[in-house]
Amino acid sequence: MHLSPLGISPDKCLIAGRWVAPVSGETLPLENPSDGTTLCEIARGGATDINAAVQAAETALQGEWGRATAAERGRLLARIGQLVLEHTEMLAELEALDVGKPLKQARADVIALARYMEFYAGSADKLHGQTIPYMEGYTVYTLREPHGVTGHIIPWNYPMQIIGRSVGAALATGNACVLKPAEEACLTALAFGEIARRAGLPDGALNVVPGLGAEAGAALTEHEGVHHISFTGSVGVGKLIQRVASEHVVPVTLELGGKSPQVVFADADLDAALPFLVNAGIQNAGQTCSASSRILVHRSRYDEVLAAMAGRYSGLRAGPAMSDLDLGPLVSQRQKDIVEGFIAKGSDLEVAAQGQVVDGAPRGGAYVAPTLFGAVAPDHTLAQDEIFGPVQVVIPFDDEDHAVAIANGTKFGLVASCWTKDGARAMRMAKRLRAGQVFLNNYGAGGGVELPFGGTGLSGHGREKGFEALYGFTTLKTVAAFHG
Ligand code: NAI
Ligand code: MG
Repeated sequence: MHLSPLGISPDKCLIAGRWVAPVSGETLPLENPSDGTTLCEIARGGATDINAAVQAAETALQGEWGRATAAERGRLLARIGQLVLEHTEMLAELEALDVGKPLKQARADVIALARYMEFYAGSADKLHGQTIPYMEGYTVYTLREPHGVTGHIIPWNYPMQIIGRSVGAALATGNACVLKPAEEACLTALAFGEIARRAGLPDGALNVVPGLGAEAGAALTEHEGVHHISFTGSVGVGKLIQRVASEHVVPVTLELGGKSPQVVFADADLDAALPFLVNAGIQNAGQTCSASSRILVHRSRYDEVLAAMAGRYSGLRAGPAMSDLDLGPLVSQRQKDIVEGFIAKGSDLEVAAQGQVVDGAPRGGAYVAPTLFGAVAPDHTLAQDEIFGPVQVVIPFDDEDHAVAIANGTKFGLVASCWTKDGARAMRMAKRLRAGQVFLNNYGAGGGVELPFGGTGLSGHGREKGFEALYGFTTLKTVAAFHG
């Protein structure tokens, strides 16, 4: 399989601007989640390949890339964004095939990737230091400098969006990147590497090494030539990465998912809320870090909201990515097993409604029918743990304090929302909810390339997206000049 029309082979790594086979010569099969077949073989990068990629990045920093002005970096990112848009259909098809997501979602992800490039293109030359009033005879100022070589370990759920937000901000600030995509889905990461190369990004400024987490991922985390690590994925691996990075005292940005609530008060506009309540749970088949998996409803409207959500669930259909239905399959049989394990843990609960897997869906595909549970106790496993599948729970509450206690009553804190016509209550809730992002009378705000994003608690730390990310991908130097 070639990534046509780019003509690159997915069993290679991009290192120092060249497509090379991993030193071991080994490959891994890439699962097609829509039917369970193997899409193609991908490179099984290892420690030697990661080492070459880190060295290529360091060489780029010593060369043309390290000398590029902020304006030049911005212009390059703009060109990459333009080329991404020109390859919209190809990228969307690759992402749909690889991840199993419906084509329209994959297309939206391409647009988001291009938007990240445009946003960080425009911001590259607008990140300023400060001058600081100090003692007589001094001039003091700060410089925002790149960390150096940045490692990017990304998951399979939104490869393009996560590349956009982390690699985009890292390149804008002058870092050189080593990208380790997920073994479950890495085709668009490879395509993006080639697109960036064709746009004129200097060799080594972006290297892409696919492979297993325990091999290529671990080698990248352990490498002493890496100066910053950005990770999105599971809590367990996030903790491990933070521990390993501490060996070299390297800063990490961790985005580890959540159990994000939407709180529906008695005065909520249900017509406006309903699409958000359901879509935020089933988008990308629920495999979204900011998925809203808990719906908290004031007891006076609990039955009405549950019935309205159940009505929507009954019409949901899951099928092959290319049939572009409401949901595709999950990313893999393994993820399907995890999610079905969770659904089985809800056997004591009321299933309010289920969508359906369409008749023609291939037997080998990783399909899970979207499932809505009603009257779930806030401490139930299904209301506490990240499921990462199309499963939502609905929980009644009595008053604002009760809603806050339930909403904040998990170990996560990524996103939250509140639906109410009472402006004062909305503002109060925005302060009280424990989350990195709070939405008032909406959810997700259409993705929000411009909006800082990240978590608290087990959801992680550090912020990506928006201008804020530029601070995370730079280190601050204070210069104190004495001139008398
Ligand atoms: P994972 O955390 O194992 O994988 C994410 C990335 O980390 C992949 O690129 C993987 O190769 C890499 N990785 C794995 N082990 C590593 C190690 N020892 N050192 C360095 N890198 C390593 O997540 P997985 O297994 O794909 O999914 C399991 C669960 O994690 C999901 O069910 C979901 O709950 C959560 N998750 C959350 C995501 C989010 O967006 N916050 C994304 C993906 C998964
Ligand atoms: Mg894993």
